[in-house]
Amino acid sequence: MNDDIERVLYSQTDIADACARLGKQLSGDYEGKVPVVLSVLSGAVFFTTDVMRQMNTYTQLDFIDVSSYHGGTKSSGEVQLVTDISRDVSGRDVLIIEDIVDTGRTLKFIIDLLKDRHAKSVKVCTLLDKPTGRVLEAKADYVGFVVPNEFVVGYGLDYKGEYRNLPYVGVLKPKIYMDK
Ligand code: XMP
Ligand code: MG
Repeated sequence: MNDDIERVLYSQTDIADACARLGKQLSGDYEGKVPVVLSVLSGAVFFTTDVMRQMNTYTQLDFIDVSSYHGGTKSSGEVQLVTDISRDVSGRDVLIIEDIVDTGRTLKFIIDLLKDRHAKSVKVCTLLDKPTGRVLEAKADYVGFVVPNEFVVGYGLDYKGEYRNLPYVGVLKPKIYMDK
């Protein structure tokens, strides 16, 4: 699997440092509150568990699954709700945890949903931000790394459901798109 990676963008140490930095910031910002930490399945699971453990505040964990990529490298443009949140978010502070904000479609869909349901506040923490991919306006409040416009995998991010378990974030060799 490692042989499929052209280059490593963020190592395990880089990621751990980013989680510590973001966790410290979040601990301060959510002091005295009990946010619903909303992890976006499946990509954000790895980042969620690491960043949450750096937050020295009370939290409640929940999940949402939305789909727009259907396993490939290009957004289909249409976002669908696959699995809904398990709790009522009305009046709650919600912290969305994402693996990457690319076109912004997924994030906008989730933010709109939470606002419709009268969440008290909605903030976004993303491991990766790819501003060059943006189609819709969507802003993350907490960002691990700003990434170049390349398709990245690892640490939760997938290509056709694979590579999520790589402990780092890297760029896939272009031949993988052609062969697979
Ligand atoms: P959008 O385009 O809606 O994308 O902002 C958000 C979701 O799409 C996935 N995504 C990627 N997955 N490498 C991946 O493995 C990428 O470069 C990439 N760009 C977008 C991701 O699941 C994210 O939640
Ligand atoms: Mg995702």
